[in-house]
Amino acid sequence: MSTPFTTNNAGIAVESDEHSLTVGPDGPILLQDHYLIEKMAQFNRERVPERVVHAKGAGAYGFFEVTNDVSQFTKADLFQPGKRTDMLARFSTVAGEQGSPDTWRDPRGFALKFYTDVGNFDLVGNNTPIFFVRDTIKFQDFIRSQKRRPDNGLRDNDMQWDFWTLSPESAHMVTWLMGDRGIPKTYRNMNGYGSHTYMWINGGGTRYWVKYHFKTDQGIDFLTQAEADALAGSDPDVHRKDLWQAIESGNAPSWTLYVQVMPFEDAADYRFNPFDLTKVWPHGDYPLIEVGRMTLDQNPEDYFIHIEQAAFEPANMVPGVGPSPDKMLLGRLFSYPDTHRYRIGPNYAQLPPNRPRVPVHSYAKDGPMRYEPARTARPYAPNSYGGPHASPEAYGDIAGWQTAGEMVREAYSLHREDDDFGQPGTMVRQVLDEDARTRLVSNVAGHLKQGVSQPVLERAVQYWRNIDKKIGDRIAAEVNGL
Ligand code: NDP
Ligand code: HEM
Repeated sequence: MSTPFTTNNAGIAVESDEHSLTVGPDGPILLQDHYLIEKMAQFNRERVPERVVHAKGAGAYGFFEVTNDVSQFTKADLFQPGKRTDMLARFSTVAGEQGSPDTWRDPRGFALKFYTDVGNFDLVGNNTPIFFVRDTIKFQDFIRSQKRRPDNGLRDNDMQWDFWTLSPESAHMVTWLMGDRGIPKTYRNMNGYGSHTYMWINGGGTRYWVKYHFKTDQGIDFLTQAEADALAGSDPDVHRKDLWQAIESGNAPSWTLYVQVMPFEDAADYRFNPFDLTKVWPHGDYPLIEVGRMTLDQNPEDYFIHIEQAAFEPANMVPGVGPSPDKMLLGRLFSYPDTHRYRIGPNYAQLPPNRPRVPVHSYAKDGPMRYEPARTARPYAPNSYGGPHASPEAYGDIAGWQTAGEMVREAYSLHREDDDFGQPGTMVRQVLDEDARTRLVSNVAGHLKQGVSQPVLERAVQYWRNIDKKIGDRIAAEVNGL
């Protein structure tokens, strides 16, 4: 088989893959060995900073097809009957770095980008319908408690439980994390959730609140702590490999999308605050409605280009979908494009995984590595040379809600059944079976036994007793008969 000859980055044939240009075989290397210098310089710049969270992941391309008519709830192009939309998905762990094992106990990211006919729609969720905190202002503290200590560079269970027990709103998510679903067997064997409440708007301008649930068609499956610990040593990239191999062998994984839909007016006096990210909407109140199916059938040609440089942003919302008053979501709308500008560069949106499949007529211009021209005739709006003009008609109704009041720094207004321990208690008592409860106790006790200081340990036991008295007692008994 004939292979192509090596060129430098300018496409010019190079003389050698093996020897630098020197003065005699033992002589000094010459500065004019441009190819050698290009190789060294390129190598030194191979990395972009890793994501500050969700650094380790895997991803693939695929498509989303609508299987049920939900047009009475949304006019969003990708959810219309018969529609099929190309998409990209990236799954990830949260706290670990690029090289960390796939099987550490952690939530899993479930980030989706749909290349719709009206621009990109990104849904950047997790494999959990809830989260650890309910206000953006606590996210950075939460993440730092899960990452490494500044003095010794080590992860530290004491920091984790210190933060969690001082932040009781974390109880629902911690219960989830310490349960079976805290370590999925593969990325293919987990659900994805939009987690936040979002808005949908139909063609008549009627607004609804929605929650997205992507249920795995491969079935839920998990690893025990012991299985995960063994794999962390023997096969740390096991989840990345599994996704790649499944797609490579033609076994394309899929997920069925369901939504819960709440009429706009119900939010005001629903029994839980429907915008609180630490709560679910019980299925009995708002049943799941099928929407469609996403299938991942195409591995990326180049991991760095398509997955490392993928830039998901919750603010990418197309007409027919919108945000909600969830204070986490509203913070995230700012955070992602900000970090992309730092991590990848200000023109990240032009890169292959990020560029929309529709013409872009933005007034953005110039900046590092830009290669798409600004197609705006003149670089300002309005202009009289045929430049683009904003179109309220093309966007349609503003995805908003009425708001007024004094500026405050206060928690959400409480709804009837709002508290931090009710829903995790329901999960422990009614959703988990006895075997799952036993594994939960063992996982928590095992974690608490590793370097958690006495005062934090005592708070942790009380935290679990608040979730469920019996579970708290069992954990206390297993952690050295506390
Ligand atoms: P349901 O009995 O209708 O739903 C319980 C849900 O729990 C299941 O549908 C399943 O979600 C999920 N589940 C099952 N096993 C586990 C596990 N080991 N770890 C985490 N989740 C699991 O009850 P409700 O809707 O009234 O909710 C009761 C409790 O269930 C909630 O307080 C919450 O803790 C938990 N839950 C609720 C969800 C919701 O959106 N309503 C979603 C997930 C959990 P799935 O079908 O998504 O796989
Ligand atoms: C990644 C911020 C909450 C899901 C990230 C990144 C940042 C960030 C800065 C790195 C992005 C990158 O470099 O490409 C925040 C902030 C949050 C928050 C400020 C709270 C206010 C959440 C929540 C979820 C979530 C609640 C899920 C519901 C993700 C996912 C990724 C990510 C899936 C990885 C995206 C990818 O695969 O590229 N987040 N996050 N985040 N976040 Fe969040």
